[in-house]
Amino acid sequence: MERGQRAYKGHCLVLPYPSQGHINPMLQFAKLLSHKGVKVTLVTTRYIHKTMYGSASSCIALDLETISDGYDEAGRGEASIDAYLESFWKEGSKTLAELLEKLSSSGPPVDCVVYDAFMPWPLDVARKFGIAGATFFTQSCAVANIYYHVHKGLLKVPLADDQSLISLPGLPPLDPLDLPSFVYDLEYCPAFYRVVVGQFSNVDKADWVLCNTFYELEEQVVDWLAKFWPLRTVGPTIPSKYLDERLEDDKEYGVNLFKSDNDACIKWLNERPKGSVAYVSFGSAAKLDDEQTKELAWGLRRSKSNFLWVVRASEAAKVPKGFVEETSEKGLVVSWCSQLEVLAHEAVGCFVTHCGWNSTLEALSLGVPMLAMPQWTDQRTNAKFIMDVWKIGITAPSDEKGKVREEVVEHCISEIMEGERGKEMKINALKWKELAKKAADEGGSSDKNIDEFISKLVQ
Ligand code: UDX
Repeated sequence: MERGQRAYKGHCLVLPYPSQGHINPMLQFAKLLSHKGVKVTLVTTRYIHKTMYGSASSCIALDLETISDGYDEAGRGEASIDAYLESFWKEGSKTLAELLEKLSSSGPPVDCVVYDAFMPWPLDVARKFGIAGATFFTQSCAVANIYYHVHKGLLKVPLADDQSLISLPGLPPLDPLDLPSFVYDLEYCPAFYRVVVGQFSNVDKADWVLCNTFYELEEQVVDWLAKFWPLRTVGPTIPSKYLDERLEDDKEYGVNLFKSDNDACIKWLNERPKGSVAYVSFGSAAKLDDEQTKELAWGLRRSKSNFLWVVRASEAAKVPKGFVEETSEKGLVVSWCSQLEVLAHEAVGCFVTHCGWNSTLEALSLGVPMLAMPQWTDQRTNAKFIMDVWKIGITAPSDEKGKVREEVVEHCISEIMEGERGKEMKINALKWKELAKKAADEGGSSDKNIDEFISKLVQ
């Protein structure tokens, strides 16, 4: 069909991996496309669709469809990751094909399937229908590069016991401990190791490789990877109203898999002085053990700063008894919030974070310095960049048992909130905030890449 005959600039089907850290950036990317005149169908699993709070289509025109992962009624539950992924591959491929069939007969045909890199199989389904495929990385390009080298056998794992610094093109020298946990310790979670390395099984066949980062942030590694793939940086996929306070548009994230206490958070923040609050959150999946949770709690209690601590309902029992009441003068503990709204609030002076890629990019784009407490997966690598490359935070040192002790928590928060180093971090954070905004703004590096992607949807 000729471009001129269409009401839309093309039709994309956007398919995230079903977890919060993957849905957020891909949903936001879907909304950006829609905002620019592309018809977008967001596809979630049936279980996610049933359990999500908020609506992806509440603010902007997105169609919602579902496919099956084989766990429609009760979710993955106790199923192993391997069993879940196999089921998702099998049932997902079948139901995605049915969906494409249905969409081809009922509306504008799908031009491109944008699929989460964690699941390479949608590309095969798209190909059967003669549809283009764009893989979408929800991790940094640095992390993608490390996994890619492992996939190619260019970074040999397991690492030798006496492994010294690791040199990979486009990256600063990395200590073995800076590598993602699945690569550093293969026994840690073999199923996830297969997922992260499997991202590259058919990457050479994808029409596009999209990444939620921006060129200026990862210039060298982007240039390196772009030699092999049609890589385009499209981030930060953060609603523009957060990047520029003057914009009152409606691009909220829109889907939460957790029930939010956001109104209470914002009311509480409104009553705190500017820059006085440490916001503490470990994302949607990381689990601190009892001992670490206790150390963190006592560290927050010792700290001179106020704190807003997100403890997911599943983790709440680990918080020491009496802590919430005892610290209620200066602290608030909630089970979930709208993180962007919190990070954008002027009362927040630092972010104690697990360094998930979304949290990292969100804090960087909103100019908030970080205290990094990485837990697993790509978080150590992100922490390395936060501290040593972008210089917008510090990594909390842990002891020989791997725990960050209460006095360390207290000291690091005070260094960021009040110390000389903190001032430098704040200046750097504001610089990155400007660059992030510029990349996403009209004519910026990411915006141009998105326009290029759209311009090739319908040939
Ligand atoms: C996971 C991995 O852990 C992460 O390392 C990877 O890069 C992406 O997938 P998650 O652990 O959930 O994600 O962390 P993160 O990437 O930071 O994503 C969490 C998302 O939830 C962010 O977009 C954040 O804004 C949102 N969030 C978190 C809230 O909206 N409210 C909260 O209270 C906490």
